[in-house]
Amino acid sequence: MIDRPRTGERAILVHVGIGRPPSSVHCEEFEELALSAGAEVLASISATRQSANPKFLVGSGKADEISALAAESGADIVLVNHDLSPSQERNLERVCKCRVLDRAGLILDIFAQRARSHEGKLQVELAQLEHLSTRLVRGWTHLERQKGGIGLRGPGETQLESDRRMLGQRVKMLRKRLEKVSRQRSQSRRQRQRSELPVISLVGYTNAGKSTLFNTLSAAGVYAADQLFATLDPTLRKLELPGGEDAILADTVGFVRDLPHELVAAFQSTLDETREAALLLHVIDSSDPDRHERIDQVNQVLKRIGAAQVPQIEVYNKIDLIEGQPRIERSPDGRVRRVWLSAVSGAGVPDLVAAIAAAIANELVNVSLTLGGGDGRLRARLFALGGVVSERVMDDGSTVLRLRMPRVQFERFCHREKIAEESWRYIACDASDGSLESAPRLATV
Ligand code: GTP
Repeated sequence: MIDRPRTGERAILVHVGIGRPPSSVHCEEFEELALSAGAEVLASISATRQSANPKFLVGSGKADEISALAAESGADIVLVNHDLSPSQERNLERVCKCRVLDRAGLILDIFAQRARSHEGKLQVELAQLEHLSTRLVRGWTHLERQKGGIGLRGPGETQLESDRRMLGQRVKMLRKRLEKVSRQRSQSRRQRQRSELPVISLVGYTNAGKSTLFNTLSAAGVYAADQLFATLDPTLRKLELPGGEDAILADTVGFVRDLPHELVAAFQSTLDETREAALLLHVIDSSDPDRHERIDQVNQVLKRIGAAQVPQIEVYNKIDLIEGQPRIERSPDGRVRRVWLSAVSGAGVPDLVAAIAAAIANELVNVSLTLGGGDGRLRARLFALGGVVSERVMDDGSTVLRLRMPRVQFERFCHREKIAEESWRYIACDASDGSLESAPRLATV
């Protein structure tokens, strides 16, 4: 990736609503995104259409209006709060005589600026190249060659100047490198699972305060900034819980409405961390007037990536901004559902640590599972998941495994592998299972 100085580009924003006018929440969020990318916002304009115009997305009259506004305000770039097809982007650029970037391109640019780890940088570069490659069909020759700037950071400029064959080679090379890095990562994930450490994943809308809470919880010194997407790469720290249980705390990328699909795929590793977590801390900015909508959006993403079943504690952060007091709320079964705290002042953080310890203790299950003689594949899978504490081969050729693993993981395993209910039973957390006492302990295989 090539780093370039920030250009502080002058931008106009175009908010487009299809079927209904663009909502003020979405407009404000887009402006925040533009500022996050380093743009200077000169003006905005809105358009509402019954259906998308294939040529410009907006109508041709509106395209002229946008062009006039861009010229009048001296904008370098037009940022469109909607997805544009490559040809719509090109047609608008011709009319406006300046660069046009859609929402996905803008978000990719922000990710390009924020990626920190090797894997994160590779993932962003790949996602950007894939986004760009569809836009390189006829090149950008209709525009004057421009250097750097929003949407052209990261690999943008060099790749725009190279031909498509080079682009294809680069994509191939990046994919290969990424595969290797992600193999290494999944290996270390397996090692963590083998060491039986439950993973607690911080999730939440971008800017909710995940990295700050991650720091407060782990004193890890992770970069936190008042900009969207300060976090790009899953960052892991070991957390020592009061009950003596250790856990891994994972900071993840902030979610945002309609994440471009290139990025959903690119950040699969972050999402894997989330899907396989024993517990999710859903961080919410309690001072955010749109918090309800954002909670829903995060839950929708969690559902989409298969993490809806993972137990969740809602962490209402930034209570210092609403002059609130730290408190906890429980669900009828006594589990902590919400913790109100301030990651900055630390108020309420001990409550959260206690709630995490209780949730982790509750959610790890001990199970005795009997497998038939021919079930070697299931046995191997359970070992790979890191859930086997001990095993004993019985006289009749069956194997009794003692498992300790997150309830969700075990339940998912049973569902997927169609494990019959009569072949397993839960055993109490610290109960010694007499029949297995003499079996060799295979704790950290
Ligand atoms: P992304 O990486 O974009 O997803 O952001 P994030 O959720 O990791 O947010 P981050 O921790 O970077 O915090 C965003 C901003 O909120 C920073 O300026 C923090 O200082 C601020 N912040 C976080 N927690 C608190 C809090 O408890 N009180 C106040 N007043 N500000 C907070």
